[in-house]
Amino acid sequence: MIDLATAGTVSLGDRTVKRLGYGAMQLAGPGVFGPPKDRDAALAVLRAAVAEGVDHIDTSDFYGPHVTNQIIRAALHPYPDHLTIVTKVGAKRGADASWNPAFSAEALTQAVHDNLRNLGVDVLDVVNLRLMFDVHGPAEGSIEAPLTVLADLQRRGLIRRIGLSNATRRQVAEGRRITEIVCVQNQYNLAHRADDALIDELAEAGTAYVPFFPLGGFSPLQSSVLSEVAARLGATPMQVALAWLLRRAPNILLIPGTSSLGHLRENLAAAALNLPTEAMAALDGIGAA
Ligand SMILES: NC(=O)c1ccc[n+]([C@@H]2O[C@H](COP(=O)([O-])OP(=O)(O)OC[C@H]3O[C@@H](n4cnc5c(N)ncnc54)[C@H](OP(=O)(O)O)[C@@H]3O)[C@@H](O)[C@H]2O)c1
Repeated sequence: MIDLATAGTVSLGDRTVKRLGYGAMQLAGPGVFGPPKDRDAALAVLRAAVAEGVDHIDTSDFYGPHVTNQIIRAALHPYPDHLTIVTKVGAKRGADASWNPAFSAEALTQAVHDNLRNLGVDVLDVVNLRLMFDVHGPAEGSIEAPLTVLADLQRRGLIRRIGLSNATRRQVAEGRRITEIVCVQNQYNLAHRADDALIDELAEAGTAYVPFFPLGGFSPLQSSVLSEVAARLGATPMQVALAWLLRRAPNILLIPGTSSLGHLRENLAAAALNLPTEAMAALDGIGAA
């Protein structure tokens, strides 16, 4: 079994988690909508993740919707004390599987209660406010109103810690004036490096950065350089992509997603993969190209 602690830990407020966690989005049905084809397989992946030492799961009640959280609860409740579950609010699914902004006080409060009920907890460990000014990437706009709603729910004891997702640098700064921001979850990987400067700023501040689509998401990473480096190291391209992120900055916390036990174990093994400096340099060239 891989010792995930070899890759170190990152703080999420008063919780400390290993840098290799698990993203649960792939456990819903196709298009992150409806139930999975094989519910038992989804339960098995979650139980294996925790058995392998994962202590951080990323989810949302809008995956399914509700389905992913209900599967997490069925697989793992009562949760081990050391497990941190991070969820997100700010979107609502349409009947056509669309992703729609849901930022009113009523919608955010409802989303927090949906998460509490479907996960089966009295308080949510970490809630990310998933910004939707542009669904596909960070875009400017004030976050004061929705973040104030979350901060109020935090004061009422329903949320421990707050983070931001799909956020710009300006929104992170605005958020910090309202409440403590313990993590930022944006799209970032070997080939998509728009957040390089933000990651470095957050690292200096000791704030976790959680890249979503670490393996490319719906378009898995493909690069001849990545494949060549992986072959030289006797690893898989996905392991190298994760190891690159681990080495990229100490505040990066990984949540690769998979519905497969084999891929789960492969991804977790990246914790023990050391990338030589020349491999880092070659891989750095992918994003620059
Ligand atoms: N904040 C946001 O807006 C946002 C958006 C998207 C995702 N997220 C979070 O980020 C997490 C990670 O993102 P993601 O799951 O969308 O994308 P990802 O981790 O980049 O990639 C997942 C895809 O890669 C495949 N995969 C995983 N491991 C593999 C391996 N070792 N070899 C080959 N293929 C592999 C998966 O298929 P298999 O199932 O077949 O393994 C799946 O299709 C999600 O689970 C979710 O929690 C957040």
